[in-house]
Amino acid sequence: MAILVTNIKQLVQTEPKKLKYRAGKDMMNLPIIENAYLLTEGDVIKDFGCMDSLDRTKLSKLKEPLQEVDAAGRMVFPSFCDSHTHIVYAGSREVEYIDKIKGLSYEEIAKRGGGILNSSKRLHEASEDELFDSAWQRLNEMASYGTGAVEIKSGYGLSTEDELKMLRVIRRLKEKSPMLIKANFLGAHAVPAQYKKNPDDYVDLIINEMIPMVAAEELADFIDVFCDKGFFTVEQTERMLMQGIKYGLRPKIHANELDYSGGIQVGVKYNALSVDHLEYTGDAEIAALLDSETMPTILPGAAFFLGMVCAPARKMMDAGLPVALASDFNPGSCPSGNMQLVIAMGSIMYKMLPEEIINATTINTAYALGEHETVGSITKGKKANFFITKPMDTIYFMNYAFGSNKIERYFLNGKEQ
Ligand code: NIG
Ligand code: FE
Repeated sequence: MAILVTNIKQLVQTEPKKLKYRAGKDMMNLPIIENAYLLTEGDVIKDFGCMDSLDRTKLSKLKEPLQEVDAAGRMVFPSFCDSHTHIVYAGSREVEYIDKIKGLSYEEIAKRGGGILNSSKRLHEASEDELFDSAWQRLNEMASYGTGAVEIKSGYGLSTEDELKMLRVIRRLKEKSPMLIKANFLGAHAVPAQYKKNPDDYVDLIINEMIPMVAAEELADFIDVFCDKGFFTVEQTERMLMQGIKYGLRPKIHANELDYSGGIQVGVKYNALSVDHLEYTGDAEIAALLDSETMPTILPGAAFFLGMVCAPARKMMDAGLPVALASDFNPGSCPSGNMQLVIAMGSIMYKMLPEEIINATTINTAYALGEHETVGSITKGKKANFFITKPMDTIYFMNYAFGSNKIERYFLNGKEQ
């Protein structure tokens, strides 16, 4: 099938060439074509431009039957890329959330059986089919809000058997979904209770058993570690990243959410594709990120839900760094994968401008997924993943109207969903 979308009021994020990411002042640069068309064939973008330049005689040369879609003055965006999620989990955690509202600390909640270890227990009891079905629903809801590419982490297994179970569920999602999916092995999400006295033994298990098995089944693209106060130290992180790299897994890590943990620096040292969270980012962390290939990724939903300090997005961009924004969809700190909400939070909480935010949620998160050559912009040859908005006067409505779904129709791999 080929699709010709005509009469697009604004075609957003049109890149003539495949771009790596946008950084610093360049994040204000958001190419837009007014009164545009978009042509896709098969699962890729074939052409785009001004309506005035649309040459209909060329359409007869298409190899596939053509469907015409009149956007009638609506906007078209490339689908959002969400480079950080934990959507494979068993059961929500709203009960402990109420305890949190009442003022219980993270430690007190953990003592009552809450937190990551609670999700781990429930995941252990769930079947692969149950995990698949609930993650499938989450994935489809995310697509309906405009997401077209997503990274999914393991990390609620915390034993070899259950980490592999999670990663096999992610593999099934990859096979069945029209979304572009990347898998991240996060065995080092928390130290299981039985290793509390000897956390290094758990690190050894990850290094000697989990990583080789994950690699043998080719279940993951990346390796993640929660390198932060009370979780894994820089030293432990280094050992796990070195082994992951040896087995072909590029690091993408949780860093500096709870403290100046050294997580950012260790991520940069091991050429992480991204370091994520970043509430505790100072001059030393910014200096480490400059001249690196690591994408600083902020997760506004988690900061909002947990009432944390905001990562210094403006300071990072002023220093010349790129910034990416992702959802962190997970049952403990962000039970939402709505990237439109992330966009609104980007401007409300981080004072980022709409142009910066669109870059931060498309091309920059595409880079953080390792997929800037396939998704994240309207570029010839990239995947035909895009959406048509509801009627709106300007793209700023995306940031401004924070509670409603602004998407009318969405297309993944060149097919309307
Ligand atoms: O990214 N920060 C670490 N991990 C998750 C939270 C996971 C949970 O509480 O279940 C996060 O926010
Ligand atoms: Fe996370």
